[in-house]
Amino acid sequence: MDGMNDKLAVIGQSTRHDSALAHCTGEARFTDDIPELPGTLHAALVLSDIAHARLHGLNTATAASMPGVVAIIGPQDIPGHNDVSPTHRGGEPLFADTEILHWGQALAMVVATSRDAALLAARAVTAEVEVLRPVLSVDEALAANDLLMAPMVMTTGDYAKALAASPHRLSGEFRCGGQEHFYLEGQICLAIPGEDGDLALHSSTQHPTEVQHIAAGILGCDFNRISVHVRRLGGGFGGKESNASWIGAAAALAAVKTGRPVKLRLPRKTDMAVTGKRHPFLFRWDVGFDDTGRILGLDALMAADGGHTLDLSTGVIFRAVTHALNVMAVPDIRIDGRVLRTNTVSNTAFRGFGGPQGVVLSEEIIRRIARALGSTPEAVRERNFAGEANGSFTPYGQKLEGDLISRVWAETQDLSGWDARRAAVDAFNASHPYKRRGLGSFVLSFGISFGVQAMNQAGALVHVYADGSIRLNHGGTEMGQGLFIKIAQVVAETFGVPLSRVRITATSTAEVPNTSPTAASTGTDLNGWAARIAAGALRERMVKVAAEHWAVEEAEIEMVDDEVRAGNHRMSFGELAKLCHAKRVSLSATGHYKTPGLSWDPATMRGEPFFYFTYAAAVAEMEVDTLTGEHRCLGAWLVEDCGRSLNPAVDLGQIEGAFVQGMGWLTSEELFWDTQGRLRTLGPSTYKIPGSRDVPEVFEVRLLSDAPARADTIFRSKAVGEPPLMLATCVWNALIDAAGVESLDMPVTPERLLMAMNSK
Ligand code: MTE
Ligand code: HPA
Ligand code: MOS
Repeated sequence: MDGMNDKLAVIGQSTRHDSALAHCTGEARFTDDIPELPGTLHAALVLSDIAHARLHGLNTATAASMPGVVAIIGPQDIPGHNDVSPTHRGGEPLFADTEILHWGQALAMVVATSRDAALLAARAVTAEVEVLRPVLSVDEALAANDLLMAPMVMTTGDYAKALAASPHRLSGEFRCGGQEHFYLEGQICLAIPGEDGDLALHSSTQHPTEVQHIAAGILGCDFNRISVHVRRLGGGFGGKESNASWIGAAAALAAVKTGRPVKLRLPRKTDMAVTGKRHPFLFRWDVGFDDTGRILGLDALMAADGGHTLDLSTGVIFRAVTHALNVMAVPDIRIDGRVLRTNTVSNTAFRGFGGPQGVVLSEEIIRRIARALGSTPEAVRERNFAGEANGSFTPYGQKLEGDLISRVWAETQDLSGWDARRAAVDAFNASHPYKRRGLGSFVLSFGISFGVQAMNQAGALVHVYADGSIRLNHGGTEMGQGLFIKIAQVVAETFGVPLSRVRITATSTAEVPNTSPTAASTGTDLNGWAARIAAGALRERMVKVAAEHWAVEEAEIEMVDDEVRAGNHRMSFGELAKLCHAKRVSLSATGHYKTPGLSWDPATMRGEPFFYFTYAAAVAEMEVDTLTGEHRCLGAWLVEDCGRSLNPAVDLGQIEGAFVQGMGWLTSEELFWDTQGRLRTLGPSTYKIPGSRDVPEVFEVRLLSDAPARADTIFRSKAVGEPPLMLATCVWNALIDAAGVESLDMPVTPERLLMAMNSK
C-alpha cells in the first residue's frame, strides 16, 4: 500500500461531520450527558485566593460539617505521588502542599452528594498561609533570570559579525498576549470504580493515555487498572492536552477514596482560573539588512511567560524558535528562547503551540524594515523568501519548498485582488474624515510532527463483523475537528465500501493503548495511517479467502462499490465477511504507524524534526474608527495547502474557524491580572472571544490547487488543524497599516489602538 489510488470513491469527498446533525439537535452526548449511576457524588476544587504563599495547612472543619459533604481530600490523601507533570519531571503537584504558586491554584477537593453542595463547601475551606511576594510579569522574571528550563538557543553563522557589517540596523521590543481556550464544554471527568480496583474514567481529554498515566501516578497503581474513554470533546484547542489529565486524576482519586462514582465538572470561572492558557511572549530583536530589504543578520530574544510550572513549555518554546523565521531564509542568526517562571497559571498548549508567537516575530521585523526603507512589508517578505534566491533551508537545516511559498502567496494576491484593493483602500483613506482602512498580508510555513519524536506514532483497531459491518477504533480523539469522519473515509476507501458500513466509536485506552495526544495537527496523519494499516491487513486476508473461493489469483480481486469482484465473479462485501468467518479467518486487526525519517539533535539544534511543511497565505482588509479605536474586518482571503484534501468541507471549516480564533487572540481577547495576581477576566462578560459579528464580512477561503504532498502522507493529504490560526497575523498587519503606526502590541484591542493613534 502506497497510500495512492487513482480512483478514489470516498477520499476527497466533502462528507459532512459524522456528528453534524447531533451537534445541532443537541443529541450528541458529551461527558456530562452520560446518565449518572445511583450514588454518584460530585467534586469541587478548593482554590487559592492568593498568588504566592507558604502553605501551613487547611481549615476544613466548617466545610466538613456542611450538608451533603462526604469527603474532603487534600495532598495528604494521595496514595501515589502528588505530581501531575506531563513530562514526568516532577514538581507539579495536583494539590499544593507546602507552597502556593498562583491565584486559583487547586489546594484540595470537596466531595458531596450534589454539585452545589460541593461547590458551597469548597468555598468554606480556608488556608493558613504566610504571604509571599508574587512575580507577575515576564519582565520581572526576565530581570531575575528565573527560568523554568535552560534557554533554547539556535544559532547559525556569525550573527554578531553579520549584524555589525550590515548597512542598516534596527532593533525593537514588542509583546503578544496569552489566550484562554474557551472550549464550549469545560473540563470534566466522570470516574466510575468497578470491581477489584478497576476504574473507568470518562474524560474530556485530547490525551486519554496521559489521563490514565497521571491518574495511576496519583493512585500509585498499575496503568492496567484504569481505562479512559472519550467519545468527543466540546472543543480542546490544546487546553485539554495536559490539563485534562490532572482533572481526571482528581476525579479518579475521589472515586477511589469514596468507593463511589464521582463527577468533577469545573464551573467556567474555576476553569478559567485554574487551567493554563497560551503563553504570552515578550520579544526583543536586533536586525541587520541591506538597501533591498534583504536580512543579513538577526539576534532575537523570545521570552515566554511559562507560569508557575513547566507543563508543555519545552515543546512550545521549541516550536516558537523553529518557526521564528517562518518563510524566510536568513544566513546568520541567534534566536534565544526562554521560558520564565511567574506566579500565574501554568501556560500550556494552544492551537499553534508556540508557532503563532514564532511567526509574529518575523512579521514585526519585516514591517519595521519596510517602514525604514520606504518599501512595503510584502516586498521585504518576498525579498527574504526561502527558495532559489536566498537558499531553502531553515536555520535548523530542514528544507522549505520555495515554490510552494511563492505559489500560496501568488494565489492569495490573486484571490484578494491585491493591487486594486490597495488602490481602493488608499482612495478611501484620502476621502474619509475619520475612518481608516488598512491592508495586511501574511505567508506561513508550518512544520507538521510532534517536537518529541516518540510521540509521532499511533495505533488503530479494526473489526469486520460477519455481516460485513465494520467497527473502527483508533488513538485519536474527536474535538470537533472532523478527525473521526476522515479516518472512517480512509477505512471505507481501503475496503471499497460506503462510509455507512463503518461504525465510528469512542476513543478508549482499553482498545488502543499507549497513544499520543491528538495534537500538533497530526491526528489524521498518524491515526489515519494506523487505521489504513489495520484495514489493509484485513483486506489482504479477505482477498485471500475470495481468491481461494473462486480459484483465481489474488491480484484479480477488486473491492469496489461494496462488492468483491474477480472477472465475472461477484459477491457482496458482507458475503465475503461471512465466508471468512466460516473459514475461520480472523476479522480483527491492529495497525501501528510511526512517522518515518525524523531526526533532531538538541545539542546542535539541527535536524529534520518535521515530516513535512504546510504552506498558506492570507490577506485582510480592516476598517478602523479613529474616534473610538473600534475595528472590523471587511474582508479576508485565504489560501491553504492541504495537499489532496481528504475532505474539503471539513478542511474549509477548520480554516475558517482557526482564522477567527486567531483574530480573537490578536484583536480582542485580553487576559487581565490585577496587581495581586488575580485573574479578573473569568467569563465572556469580561473576556471577549469573537462572535458571529466578528467574522470577516467577505470571507473567501481556497485550498491550494494541485497541491503536491509527499507520497507517503495519508492519501497525499496534509494536516490542517493549527496552521490557519496563524493566518490571522494578516489582521494585525492590516490594523497597523490602517493606524499608520510603527507597531502595536497584541491584542490590538480598541483601547490599545486608540491610544496608539492618539499618541502618534
Ligand atoms: N477544531 C475544533 N473544532 N475543536 C478543537 O478543539 N483543536 C485544534 C484543531 N482544530 C480543535 C480544532 C488543535 S489545537 C489541534 S492540534 C487539532 O485540531 C487537533 O486535531 P487534528 O490533529 O485531528 O487536526
Ligand atoms: N504540538 C502540540 N502538542 C505537543 C507538541 C507539539 O508539537 N509536542 C508535544 N506536545
Ligand atoms: Mo493542539 S495546541 O496541538 O492541541
